Amino acid sequence: MKINLLFIAFALAASAMAQQRKEISLNEDWMFSRDNENWERVNIPHDWAISGPFDKKWDLQTVAIEQNGEKEKSEKSGRSGALPWIGKGYYSKTFNMPNHRCRAELIFDGAMSEPTVTVNGHKAGYWAYGYNAFRMDITDLVKPGENHLKVSLNNVEESSRWYPGGGIYRPVKLVLTGETRFDTWGTYVRTIKADKKKAFISIDTKILGADITKPSGTEVELYDDRGMIVAASHCNADAEGNIHTVLDFNKPKLWSPETPYLYKLVLTHKQDRKVLDRQAINVGVRTVEVSKEGGFMLNGKTRKIKGVCLHHDLGPLGTAENKAALIRQIKMMKAMGCDAIRTAHNVPSEMQMDICDSLGMMVMAESFDMWIYPKCKNGYARFFKEWGEKDIENLVLHHRNHPSIVMWSIGNEIPEQGGKDGLAISKRLQDLCHKLDPSRPVTQGLDRVDAALKSGVAQAMDVPGFNYRLHKYQKGIETLPQGFLLGSETASTVSSRGVYKFPVTVSDKNTYTDGQCNGYDTEYCSWSNLPDDDWKWQEDNSWVIGEFVWTGYDYLGEPTPYDNYWPSRSSYFGICDLAGLPKDRYFLYRSHWNKKEHTIHLLPHWTWNDRKGKITPVYCYTDGEEAELFVNGKSQGRIKKNKDSRLDRFRLRWNEVKYEPGEIKVVAYDGKGNKIGEDVRRTAGKPAAIKLSAECPDNTDMQLKADGNDMAFITVSMTDKDGIHCPTADNSLSFEVTGDGTFQAACNGDATSLEPFTQPQMRLFNGQLVVVVRSTKNAGKLRLTVTDKKLRLSETIELKTI
Ligand code: GAL
Repeated sequence: MKINLLFIAFALAASAMAQQRKEISLNEDWMFSRDNENWERVNIPHDWAISGPFDKKWDLQTVAIEQNGEKEKSEKSGRSGALPWIGKGYYSKTFNMPNHRCRAELIFDGAMSEPTVTVNGHKAGYWAYGYNAFRMDITDLVKPGENHLKVSLNNVEESSRWYPGGGIYRPVKLVLTGETRFDTWGTYVRTIKADKKKAFISIDTKILGADITKPSGTEVELYDDRGMIVAASHCNADAEGNIHTVLDFNKPKLWSPETPYLYKLVLTHKQDRKVLDRQAINVGVRTVEVSKEGGFMLNGKTRKIKGVCLHHDLGPLGTAENKAALIRQIKMMKAMGCDAIRTAHNVPSEMQMDICDSLGMMVMAESFDMWIYPKCKNGYARFFKEWGEKDIENLVLHHRNHPSIVMWSIGNEIPEQGGKDGLAISKRLQDLCHKLDPSRPVTQGLDRVDAALKSGVAQAMDVPGFNYRLHKYQKGIETLPQGFLLGSETASTVSSRGVYKFPVTVSDKNTYTDGQCNGYDTEYCSWSNLPDDDWKWQEDNSWVIGEFVWTGYDYLGEPTPYDNYWPSRSSYFGICDLAGLPKDRYFLYRSHWNKKEHTIHLLPHWTWNDRKGKITPVYCYTDGEEAELFVNGKSQGRIKKNKDSRLDRFRLRWNEVKYEPGEIKVVAYDGKGNKIGEDVRRTAGKPAAIKLSAECPDNTDMQLKADGNDMAFITVSMTDKDGIHCPTADNSLSFEVTGDGTFQAACNGDATSLEPFTQPQMRLFNGQLVVVVRSTKNAGKLRLTVTDKKLRLSETIELKTI
């Protein structure tokens, strides 16, 4: 083990200094109430609505969804999750201040919504937008010893097009400093130029509260990941406290999704040799450019963005942010070959951006789903005029040091895009982004493409983003001076994990009586398309610089195409389901995006009671060029991908296969005819065994951190006596957690299920579900036992917590 002497020295020095910057987490021991009378103890991040119960009454609406092209109003249920997020909520907590005088700042990373914050009974601040971080100086409101903090929240009906959650759903911290200090969001680090040989890093910062009569200076030091200084400079602030310097050094390790290398920048402000403040910031050395010639370039290299849009909820955890859950999402997307996320359609969290920095995931950081024109009655449009610029400012100032963020987005499908106002606002917001951060391009997702080209909005953006509308790409590129365009939102293909409908049809309007969508990945919406359609445009045209698929995961709310159907309360768009389990579509994207590993994935499952002799098409998702399919050993033909066919260019399909129980097997080959692998599906017998497999995303498998926050995600599957997955099992299971852990939630990915996530029992959906368990602060062991009472089956998994 390498001992990091410099960082140890840094830590010792920091602890010896008086009045050093201290960040204190305020996440524990809150009291929470919905009515200001009955209180319960909670920790934050907290989502008050996720326990349900699910009920259509919570968010029943009679509306026309204009974005979906609807003209007539109709009853909509589950549109924002059918969970009780609407209404008021109150949080209260005490915290301690030191005896000596210091400056105190509260930083919320987001609170849903319209948080009013009081400290010791005095109003300390308010922020309108539930998704944004905000900070407030509370120095004059606090006293030594115990202090009281209260947060009042208010969620108005019809204020969101999806499930926004309710509560203090992201962390809160208290930052204590001396009088002379760095402005917390005032430090700005960016790469000016970098290649393999040399990097130039520009650093701007601001000192507040300095005594200009005394000699002072700031040390700026850049450390590598072994704690060695790679560049340093000594700076003096100007009369306003501003500091600017450029560090240069040789042979930088460049940040990219493939090499997410992070340096650490340490700023130390001294006066009379005394350290007054110190700030440490992760730095990724990388450049981002867009141009007609190169399209999107990271570190000077053109790459097509392989992105997904993500809503902020974490499925059965609701919106209560959790590090392990976020890491799980990002790792799963990376394994698919995805290299970018779009935080649709709101400001991301600090924790998520830290994870993207360290794991290597590019980000389009978005701001708004509406400006002045409301998309839903009480949406952000109520605030935009007064708050729009403040929100952009907080988004950019808070997040501009994250190397993962490669682009800002000033809006999604903003109705004003077709008018003069839209052009003026677009320019104003884009200019504001440039002013606060000249290093990144700015985009917005345009859906009314003709109107946006006519108004000039599309031409005005650094990156013209087209949402869907592939048939407008050609006209777009002929009109756009930028010379490229981005699929800022693509696909919106719908499917349910493990559900297959016959006959298989390609359709933009299919619905079924069970409220599910077809797992053959051939169904989409009237405004959208199939993954294959996007790839054709991207492969055939260098000027399409990539895409952000709608969506990486299913999310709560927006159950299109079942907006009028009950029960249905979550989306079908996900590449993975709400539990985080991959749908077949995951392997379709993997086959196209993951260039490092082969993908050979067969569908559908091969356990049908009622399909003997019936046509049951078989698809293979593979990076291979051709493959041969066998049904019980009999060849169904060796077929090749076909560039001229919509569905055979990226998939291999045997459309005439007749079902007979037994086995289907595919053997796949690359373009040169070399075998690259096989996949098999077998007919399962009766459910006979429960199989458990654990993921501990923030630690090693089978091991959690005993910090009270770490989580494991245990996939529960039903198999027959031979271990073959039972693909339609819907057994009701119960869960018990013993030892040093607690049951957190369960989810089966069924959008029509009304079983609450936070009760320890649930039915399997197509043979699978996920149980989430949480560590306590005690190191030891936790055990999850999953029981099928009816079949008298039980299985236990044990995880260490350290
Ligand atoms: C888009 C919109 C998304 C989502 C999606 C569903 O038009 O930007 O928020 O509603 O449609 O297909």
